[in-house]
Amino acid sequence: MTGPLKVALLGCGTVGSAVLRVLQDQAGDLGARIGRPVEVAGVAVRRPAHHPDVPAHLLTTDAHGLVTRDDVDLVVEVIGGIEPARSLMLAAFEAGKSVVSANKALLAEDGVALHAAAAKAGVDLYYEAAVAGAIPILRPLRESLVGDQLSRVVGIVNGTTNYILSRMAETGAGFGEALAEATELGYAEADPTADVDGFDAAAKAAILASLAFHTPVSAVDVYREGISTVTATDVARAAEIGCTVKLLAICERVGNGSPTHPGDSVAVRVHPAMIPTSHPLASVGGAFNAVFVEAEAAGQLMFYGQGAGGEPTASAVLGDLVAVARSRVTGAPGPGVTGYANLAVRSMAETPTRYHVSLDVADKPGVLAAVAQEFARHEVSISTVRQTGRGDAATLVIVTHSAPDAALSATIAALREMPAVRGVTSVLRVEGLS
Ligand code: HSE
Repeated sequence: MTGPLKVALLGCGTVGSAVLRVLQDQAGDLGARIGRPVEVAGVAVRRPAHHPDVPAHLLTTDAHGLVTRDDVDLVVEVIGGIEPARSLMLAAFEAGKSVVSANKALLAEDGVALHAAAAKAGVDLYYEAAVAGAIPILRPLRESLVGDQLSRVVGIVNGTTNYILSRMAETGAGFGEALAEATELGYAEADPTADVDGFDAAAKAAILASLAFHTPVSAVDVYREGISTVTATDVARAAEIGCTVKLLAICERVGNGSPTHPGDSVAVRVHPAMIPTSHPLASVGGAFNAVFVEAEAAGQLMFYGQGAGGEPTASAVLGDLVAVARSRVTGAPGPGVTGYANLAVRSMAETPTRYHVSLDVADKPGVLAAVAQEFARHEVSISTVRQTGRGDAATLVIVTHSAPDAALSATIAALREMPAVRGVTSVLRVEGLS
């Protein structure tokens, strides 16, 4: 076969139109890198009239017809959402076409079935653009680091929330004010729920954990808290101990010790946390993304860059497109994805975490002892205690050692009930403190 490889593009929004532009403008370079010319076979959209820039002969509303056309070799899915993207991808595999997707929600919900369908058909499924936009992180996990043992993958994988938290730290603003500014400037969508409540980051965490630990992890397995409860006080308290607040997607391999999971397990969570300003992730500001990987042999690695936007996301899609096109030329699919380790997914209650707690108390004999007693009763060890103020307006700031998250949250609930505690003014998990 020497004719051009033909690409079906499903969706032509911000990312799709950027992909189409590069495919047309740089067809020569892409073809040279693939080893065969590449051209667009068609572009499936819902409303062709909304795409005056796309040559009319390429536009179709029949996405299923396009992906199953005999002359189509590769499918690029940038529609997003679960359906019809899933049916179209399955139809593409059935028809022997490789798929490049940017669809985090679908991969996080149904990655196992989609990989199985691709493997059965002997074709490729790549989705670098689904996590952290332009940043190459899935291919490094899937290929470059596949010979290593990974212990943790911690990411700032949502630009909207990182922008909001960065502004809160810079200006002292509360969450509502920073969100309003992010919306005004176009960093946050009109309905910011998926970003602000951590759904977007949770889908990305599921994908990262699945690849890092060779274990199927779905979005429903991911513990999730968003940033809407983060207060200006939390951010100020973080600064007082040399930390900054970030929404982290934390994927880790947790050693045994749990009665219900005697072997290793994986814990996957998304929540705001304080991290030391010396941590590489702390310097990731504004809408940027980064993923920090800890591996047994490689040590620590950091991947940083633009996590969203048409052109950056198109870069990741096109990288995958060249990879799957090369496989097509050689006639052998690229490396697949394994779930052989099949580790149990640990509940958040059993996941070891550390807390930073700030309490308003009266500065009287016995108050600190009573507070410490609650930590002890829940078998939570205290790392540091600091008191500021005196008389009726004293503040106790406590950082714990690591303990099961359920023990820490039960301690907080008990503190809220103590007569000596006037108020629990800040509670945040802490990551990366020595
Ligand atoms: N909405 C995401 C973000 C980008 O704010 O980072 C797409 O995943």
